[in-house]
Amino acid sequence: MSIVAERLKRIKPSPTLAVSSKAKELKAAGRDVIGLGAGEPDFDTPNFVKSAAKLAIDNGETKYTAVDGTPELKDAIIAKFKRDNDLEYTRDQITVGTGGKQVLFNALMASVNPGDEVIIPAPYWVSYPDMTLIAEGTPVIVECSKDNNFKMTAKELEAAITPKTKWLIFNSPSNPTGGTYTYDEIKALTNVLIRHPHVYIMSDDMYEHLVYDGFEFATPAQVEPVLKDRTLTCNGVSKSYAMTGWRLGYAGGPKELIKAMAKIQGQSTSNPSSISQAAALEALNGDQSFLAERNDAFAQRRDMVVERINATQGLECFKPEGAFYVYASCAGAVGKTTPDGKIIETDEDFVTYLLESEGIAAVHGEAFGMSPYFRISYATSTQNLTEACTRIQRACDALK
Ligand SMILES: Cc1ncc(COP(=O)(O)O)c(C=O)c1O
Repeated sequence: MSIVAERLKRIKPSPTLAVSSKAKELKAAGRDVIGLGAGEPDFDTPNFVKSAAKLAIDNGETKYTAVDGTPELKDAIIAKFKRDNDLEYTRDQITVGTGGKQVLFNALMASVNPGDEVIIPAPYWVSYPDMTLIAEGTPVIVECSKDNNFKMTAKELEAAITPKTKWLIFNSPSNPTGGTYTYDEIKALTNVLIRHPHVYIMSDDMYEHLVYDGFEFATPAQVEPVLKDRTLTCNGVSKSYAMTGWRLGYAGGPKELIKAMAKIQGQSTSNPSSISQAAALEALNGDQSFLAERNDAFAQRRDMVVERINATQGLECFKPEGAFYVYASCAGAVGKTTPDGKIIETDEDFVTYLLESEGIAAVHGEAFGMSPYFRISYATSTQNLTEACTRIQRACDALK
């Protein structure tokens, strides 16, 4: 009999982490690989944040803290929610965890009963369905049309709701598409949810600050205050502040849920690193002007990648207004034959071909619940991206 629990059979390892480690492995073996799989900024953590962490170490802030965050960090998060989102929370409505991932995981573990349904618009961030399955819930995947830039409509949401629905997981800007919901688009969804008082909203705002072309970010609890008591507004410092390795995420939501999440954290990891909490406090309270500079760089890279992809035979994509991803269709490559005589049947075949022929590591659309697509992360240097686009173009031109 296997040592591995039955519950693990329901889930798969994170495909995005798998692509990153495959790219690293090939690089270590001497291959010239350009990684477009990673979901992390290539920029470094800002110096003022690093200094706060060093100071925390020197000041002896090296002990256990309150399980779900220090009062000081909670106050900084409360101030952030007020400043950026016009949302008012008290300390007992705030939780802090080891990355945005842990916060989402805790929320599902704390709230989902066996058979509860969790609505997940596709394409989705890879972990939502698997986290739901670990929590013994049922993911209800709703495929969102490319014609609407992969965003869920009110009609689609309405049709997916059943008496068993517990959550809608909402993510804007989106990983993997970079798509962003406007205030009015969110309002259309919240209007539906008002009519279904048993449904909660988990809003994953991880890419809040990574928006371009003057796009104005909004989050459901802000758009529809009536739903605030049914909304968990999740965020973190990983992406906006280039702090992926520090592992620090947070959320604001109903007290009962926040308390239940702390119970899980208290019996698993306890508090997130005291040093990371001190750093996050500084990130949230400090000068935010570096964000605009970095966003300019991201927007320029995005423009270049979108233009080059749309100029490549068999590929196409829309221009997203957020995050640092492009979700490109490879429908025009499917059915074609590689120079080695292999037929590209799926988007996974396509990304495998890119990796083997040109050393380009990207993630196939099937991992995000919608095919045939592939995700490019443009959180890497312009030089790398230019070379990557040339190689992708060459690979596509070589298909017959
Ligand atoms: C949409 C989305 N939510 C949450 C996370 C988790 O972020 P963290 O690194 O803080 O756990 C990610 C990271 O890739 C993400 O893309």
